[in-house]
Amino acid sequence: MKKSLLKKVAVGVLAGVIGLSFVGCGKSRVENTKDASSKQVVSTTLDKIKESKKLVIGTSADYPPYEFHKEIDGKDTIIGFDVNIAQEISKDLGVELEINDMKFDGLIAALKTGKVDMVLAGMNPTEERKQSVDFSKIYYTAQHAVIVRAEDKDKYKTLADLKGKEIGAQKGAIQEELAKTQIEGANVKGLGKVTDLVLELKNKKVDAIVVEVPVAKFYVEKNKDLAITDATFKIEEGEQGSAVAVKKGDEAFVNAINSTLDRLIKEGRIEEFVVKANEQVE
Ligand code: ARG
Repeated sequence: MKKSLLKKVAVGVLAGVIGLSFVGCGKSRVENTKDASSKQVVSTTLDKIKESKKLVIGTSADYPPYEFHKEIDGKDTIIGFDVNIAQEISKDLGVELEINDMKFDGLIAALKTGKVDMVLAGMNPTEERKQSVDFSKIYYTAQHAVIVRAEDKDKYKTLADLKGKEIGAQKGAIQEELAKTQIEGANVKGLGKVTDLVLELKNKKVDAIVVEVPVAKFYVEKNKDLAITDATFKIEEGEQGSAVAVKKGDEAFVNAINSTLDRLIKEGRIEEFVVKANEQVE
């Protein structure tokens, strides 16, 4: 009797100790993780870049003059004004530049998993994206345009004229949302690459596609059977223009990117890159 009581007491005390130590552990563990992760996020990307002497950017090279493929000296090369900006950032960091070309809708995931260090893809800093990544300052602003087949240009003058039509937009791009919310009854088809959207339009699989104005100008210039309409979209003030995306909390890296952007903006280099990229587009 006495013995079993003692046992019970002992077990009770032991349970209490274990319980307490769990509480203690849990608490300090939370604090540690918080501390460690915030420190990690602040320094790792820049450290990693400097250690590997390489800056890896993610882009979707289907967006001339921002980024596109071109054969230079017999070699397939990715060029464009985003690439020029990335080159300046890597130059300022004193490292090599590596470009990772993928579908636009895979870019944010690639950034979050560390497959790329930053995304330069004519990306608008939308509120939704800001929930999962951080952005640099805006380096370039452009409106959005609707491309149709040249023979339909007179038919589609405004967004209202496109009511209930098949509209193509890049998957994951804000144009998908713009088409859905600003073209009544639009049947929006999202594709991974803009080059495929252009084919869909030419092949009458969609009636119109939505891309940024400079991109629209390029595709229309290259495809005489296509034309830009006068239709325009309303866009949130803060979501206009392109910015560089980085991992959330990557403050030191954003600061480094912003200081390169400040320099380029001050020296008028971005405009120069845009003009050059437009000339390289054929
Ligand atoms: N500006 C649009 C967005 O942020 C589309 C960008 C598409 N970029 C590209 N490289 N394909 O959603």
